[in-house]
Amino acid sequence: MQVLRTVSDLRRARSSMVGSVGFVPTMGYLHQGHLTLVRRARQENQRVVVSIFVNPMQFGPQEDLLHYPRDEERDRGLLEGEAVDVLFIPSVAEMYPAGYSTFVEVEEVTRRLEGASRPGHFRGVATVVAKLFNIVMPTRAYLGEKDAQQLLVVRRMVQDLNMDMAIVAVPTVREPDGLAMSSRNVYLSPEERRAATILWRALQLAQGLYSKGEKRGRSIRDQMVHLINSEPSAKVDYVNVADAETLEDLEEVKAPALASLAVWIGKTRLIDNIMLK
Ligand code: PAJ
Repeated sequence: MQVLRTVSDLRRARSSMVGSVGFVPTMGYLHQGHLTLVRRARQENQRVVVSIFVNPMQFGPQEDLLHYPRDEERDRGLLEGEAVDVLFIPSVAEMYPAGYSTFVEVEEVTRRLEGASRPGHFRGVATVVAKLFNIVMPTRAYLGEKDAQQLLVVRRMVQDLNMDMAIVAVPTVREPDGLAMSSRNVYLSPEERRAATILWRALQLAQGLYSKGEKRGRSIRDQMVHLINSEPSAKVDYVNVADAETLEDLEEVKAPALASLAVWIGKTRLIDNIMLK
């Protein structure tokens, strides 16, 4: 595996690749969720490029940029084990040199949920993903359904800006108790880790209510909030049952609807979602 840190080195490696290139953008501190994306990219492409870049632009001023977990050595070992061809690890100065002034704004689908709770977040995501796509020029890019709104934002951007590549969505990988794998799970104390299962339990409740015939969006949301509030260390940021394409709140739920939530467990903010079937 080649480990490259500059845009010019990456471009040189890219120009010598023949056949399809699968790309997995990440912020590192890799877990089985990330590795599932990498394996899928490995199966479907001649060459695989993974990036690790903790993108300052997508973190708010009060967020966890400085504490975001990092372990480059461990990540390298994991990616070697997946037969990745190129690992791209640019510095902040390499991605945003002095004078940097161009940003990508995706409207509409960014207004709600994560976009509402984290102003500027998707501007940072869209900007860095556009840059990475322009640098790597993949045939296919792999993104997780764990970040369902991010997936919609990236799809919209690729379509609107005529980027010539396919976006492949990969289902969420979960711990045995249902907690979605996330680099941020390391922030949780053992007690909080136990409490964090409330996210999955609330999503299962939504699916159960829907399956039993409850079609009123408000009723499903209220019962999810009620359940989450029964967990003392959990605090709801948002709970939402929305149209899976537009993320508009649904009064009357009909599939495919997306149930999604953001919940604080102590000082850690976790997100998760499921498609109601
Ligand atoms: P990061 O949180 O590191 O996630 C990288 C990719 O892994 C994303 O596409 C995310 O949806 C996916 N992923 C994370 N947890 C997953 C899980 N449990 N199951 C399946 N996929 C999972 O998302 C980002 O980084 C950044 O915003 C990025 C796109 C790299 C731009 O900076």
